[in-house]
Amino acid sequence: MNNLLLNSIDAMKEKSERRIDISWSENESLVYLEFHDTGSGIPPDLQESIFNAFRSYKKEKGIGLGLAMAKRIVEMYGGSISVESQPETGTSFNLKLKPLECP
Ligand SMILES: Nc1ncnc2c1ncn2[C@@H]1O[C@H](COP(=O)(O)OP(=O)(O)OP(=O)(O)O)[C@@H](O)[C@H]1O
Ligand SMILES: [Mg+2]
Repeated sequence: MNNLLLNSIDAMKEKSERRIDISWSENESLVYLEFHDTGSGIPPDLQESIFNAFRSYKKEKGIGLGLAMAKRIVEMYGGSISVESQPETGTSFNLKLKPLECP
């Protein structure tokens, strides 16, 4: 979540409207989380590769590990993460998480 929020903040630096909306819902077997920002968006041809390690397309380049780590962690617990983005308009990351089983 920290990595998603930091990316959204970076993506909104040059925007006049800066908003991050976080919503969630759940059913018996899954928790759904959505992070939406009003940032620069991600061009369609880059959306597939942003989850790969060492891919950074920022002006002031990052290391490119934030999303790769987020995906690895989510998948380690049986969940999934996906992106939907409109260039210049904003980006949403959607997470499906399995509730942890408490001993
Ligand atoms: N919310 C977002 N809005 C626009 N672009 C994004 C957003 N989130 C990720 N990206 C794009 O995906 C790329 C990969 O993100 P990732 O977090 O893996 O790396 P990074 O932020 O560049 O570096 P690091 O997180 O390691 O400091 C970013 O460089 C950026 O181009
Ligand atoms: Mg990052």
